[in-house]
Amino acid sequence: MSLLVIGVPHIARQELRPEESGQLLCVPGGQPPLWKLMDSVGSAGLRQGEEALSYPEEGLPGPSDSSELVQECLQQFKVTRAQLQQIQASLLGSMEQALRGQASPAPAVRMLPTYVGSTPHGTEQGDFMVLELGATGASLRVLWVTLTGIEGHRVEPRSQEFVIPQEVMLGAGQQLFDFAAHCLSEFLDAQPVSKQGLQLGFSFSFPCHQTGLDRSTLISWTKGFRCSGVEGQDVVQLLRDAIQRHGAYNIDVVAVVNDTVGTMMGCELGARPCEVGLVVDTGTNACYMEEARHVAVLDEDRGRVCVSVEWGSFSDVGALGPVLTTFDHTLDHESLNPGAQRFEKMIGGLYLGELVRLVLAHLAQRGVLFGGGTSPALLSRGSILLEHVAEMEDPSAGAARVRAILQDLGLSPGALDVELVQHVCAAVCTRAAQLCAAALAAVLSHLQHGREQQTLQVAVATGGRVCERHPRFCGILQGTVMLLAPECDVSFIPSVDGGGRGVAMVTAVAARLAAHRRLLEETLAPFRLNHDQLAAVQAQMRKAMVKGLRGEASSLRMLPTFVRATPDGSERGDFLALDLGGTNFRVLLVRVTTGVQITSQIYSIPESVAQGSGQQLFDHIVDCIVDFQQKQGLSGQSLPLGFTFSFPCRQLGLDQGILLNWTKGFNASDCEGQDVVNLLREAIARRQAVELNVVAIVNDTVGTMMSCGYEDPRCEIGLIVGTGTNACYMEELRNVAGVPGDSGRMCINMEWGAFGDDGSLAMLSTCFDASVDKASINPGKQRFEKMISGMYLGEIVRHILLHLTSLGVLFRGQQTQRLQTRDIFKTKFLSEIESDSLALRQVRAILEDLGLPLTSDDALIVLEVCQAVSQRAAQLCGAGVAAVVEKIRENRGLEELAVSVGVDGTLYKLHPHFSSLVAATVRELAPHCVVTFLQSEDGSGKGAALVTAVACRLAQLTRV
Ligand code: BG6
Ligand code: GLC
Ligand code: GLC
Repeated sequence: MSLLVIGVPHIARQELRPEESGQLLCVPGGQPPLWKLMDSVGSAGLRQGEEALSYPEEGLPGPSDSSELVQECLQQFKVTRAQLQQIQASLLGSMEQALRGQASPAPAVRMLPTYVGSTPHGTEQGDFMVLELGATGASLRVLWVTLTGIEGHRVEPRSQEFVIPQEVMLGAGQQLFDFAAHCLSEFLDAQPVSKQGLQLGFSFSFPCHQTGLDRSTLISWTKGFRCSGVEGQDVVQLLRDAIQRHGAYNIDVVAVVNDTVGTMMGCELGARPCEVGLVVDTGTNACYMEEARHVAVLDEDRGRVCVSVEWGSFSDVGALGPVLTTFDHTLDHESLNPGAQRFEKMIGGLYLGELVRLVLAHLAQRGVLFGGGTSPALLSRGSILLEHVAEMEDPSAGAARVRAILQDLGLSPGALDVELVQHVCAAVCTRAAQLCAAALAAVLSHLQHGREQQTLQVAVATGGRVCERHPRFCGILQGTVMLLAPECDVSFIPSVDGGGRGVAMVTAVAARLAAHRRLLEETLAPFRLNHDQLAAVQAQMRKAMVKGLRGEASSLRMLPTFVRATPDGSERGDFLALDLGGTNFRVLLVRVTTGVQITSQIYSIPESVAQGSGQQLFDHIVDCIVDFQQKQGLSGQSLPLGFTFSFPCRQLGLDQGILLNWTKGFNASDCEGQDVVNLLREAIARRQAVELNVVAIVNDTVGTMMSCGYEDPRCEIGLIVGTGTNACYMEELRNVAGVPGDSGRMCINMEWGAFGDDGSLAMLSTCFDASVDKASINPGKQRFEKMISGMYLGEIVRHILLHLTSLGVLFRGQQTQRLQTRDIFKTKFLSEIESDSLALRQVRAILEDLGLPLTSDDALIVLEVCQAVSQRAAQLCGAGVAAVVEKIRENRGLEELAVSVGVDGTLYKLHPHFSSLVAATVRELAPHCVVTFLQSEDGSGKGAALVTAVACRLAQLTRV
């Protein structure tokens, strides 16, 4: 194994203990030079090694007590290759742990996802302001960046730098943001720009939890900042508030990014994608493009997302402990944030000067430097800055410059002092570059493993003053990265405009997304109903109920059902039941004893039959019954039959129902105006040798109420939210015109799906409702149902998606044939898309199955559209239920009503939030009613059988 020494000549090779540490990386100045040794281990791209070679070669003074002291001191800054590898491995482990979302033990780095999902296209354009805070020490920079949208064509940005006073950096947060707002104005005052419509990207270089492109909560200050009242706050909001307080310009803060992200995004498009941004400025950090599926906190399994590593806070004691010197401990102890950002404090520009100062002061105090003399400046914190270190270390600067800097510090250096000081600067900076390389190598190895490529070809954008201005830093960094991550072929690309262009790129994308959001909000606004609108629906419903009951013109027909009581548990016998009109057509055998036993079979009703001739439809129904009887061994028996028929019927008795009109997808000819029981009986007669005894016809709402009423006597309302929607309830007979008798109650089938067919819902109807209605088989009819039920919600969503596509908000504005296909977007998709756990994955999978490939932004938009449509549906349904329960309460003259509602229907049952939204709306609109919702488990066939059972019992009684 060859040794790698970039080091002090007095450190002999045999002292390097290769068996323990592998190759050694030491401080510059020694033999053989970096580039030769790297050559010998086969690394590529070593020109930067020549810089190491040109570093002071004289070496340290000859052996003496003082040189031993110096060596001892510098020795502490040496890092072995094994130590670097350990840091690399430990950081890699922490990164992966944090990505997995494993909180215990707390990962040593944060891995904060940003809202940047792709590297720039290069097509972004427009004028943007950029405000940079926190990257470069105590200064704040404002830029005006013009993006041309044309690759390679660049307009130089205009910029201005402002020094932030120390008292502001350590003062109240409001003061800092007011200062920023003031700087923005001052900058703009000198620019020939309008005061309106300015879009700003905010580069805020501190660890933040981002929750949107323009929402970011500061976790903790780092570097030299410690303003009160900012940690835990959204820094974009603080900036917006300050801009508004200042009042001079109307600036829209569109995006917030970390400096590493700006650096990566602003990288010139080259042959290979730039997917890593590295910053070594006042602090240090990197970001990179991660596979979204690797980031546990994101609910996303496709695409990539930019993650900020925040490696400055890397703090693994096992890995860092061996490289921490006494000077690091002193520096940390005296810093604003002791114990935090330990890794950054060995690398960041804010700390390098201070480390050098601590070493020089130590050596001076021990009599090794400056003839044992110190100066007040040498003993004061912050007197040596990064610029000084960079200059003193720069071989081209020469001894005179070093001497001048030292003299400015009030010191009187001799020739040897100058050399020693250069060695100290080199030792501190070399270690910084090597540690930074270990961290970058961890990121690169992680990328390489994740991509499963043998050799990862990647470009790293580099930015920050240390990278830009420090003569040797980048060279050492690059050489060390090659050694530590030999499987990665890395090109390093210096950032453009200090990352400002990248911030403008993100801002451009954010501005486009914000414009899309406004269009989305405008589109969905009519679906978001407020309390007053819902209360108005409730009041109108109430009025229409009263009119309908009186037999006056009303969109609510309020049909008497001749069901006078809910079951009392004394019903007995075997019954057949039919259930027609929901998603499934069912034939059932219902055995009522002390409980109820049900055997049932689902039969299909092809669309051609549902929309063919009436005779065909009823013949098909009888065929299904015969088939069922045969399978159940019931042939030849004439069991009483209850018929759930879920369409509006005017009943003249329990076994007579005139179909008023078809609804939902049915349209069989020659049925409207006919008695449905008769139509069934005629079909039975056509099919000879079958005997059936049709006893009752019930609406599905009634069947559901009866079925649930068997379990809970307080169930006096039936509600269906499935293919269609409707409700029934127990009304006082005295209020029902057209049915003789004044005492007792009767169940009323409201047929509320038709509510609003007289135009009373026009205020709430959107252009999308109008399109759905127009394309349906019954235009102008069932307007309330068309806003609520499963047959229509998917279509409403589809029409909205078409509109958003035409606005360019969705699918990049590209219309597809598929989305123009009627009924392609099923209502069950709404339920699937809105189920919390799967959300975005589900949206993508569903839409891709439909042949609609979409981006993550599209997926979110589709989700929001579904939510708006189903929320309106649930709230309208809730307003209807509120009208019903209030009517019952007032009928009975009660202060408080406790009542149960039996509910059925796939939308209600499958949708993740529908039921709770209905309940919440009822609570809000009918505060004096305690309403319990019972989901029907057995369908309405059971209820139809129970109605039949009661009828049979009564018939027997009259015969007796
Ligand atoms: C079923 C009932 O469970 O729900 C039917 O048995 C009813 O009578 C149906 O029509 C309503 O829901 P959907 O979603 O099937 O229309
Ligand atoms: C600090 C900040 C980080 C930033 C880095 C470089 O580490 O916490 O967000 O990227 O400095 O400026
Ligand atoms: C339709 C029918 C109605 C039924 C409802 C639920 O609105 O007209 O009778 O109750 O759908 O299925």
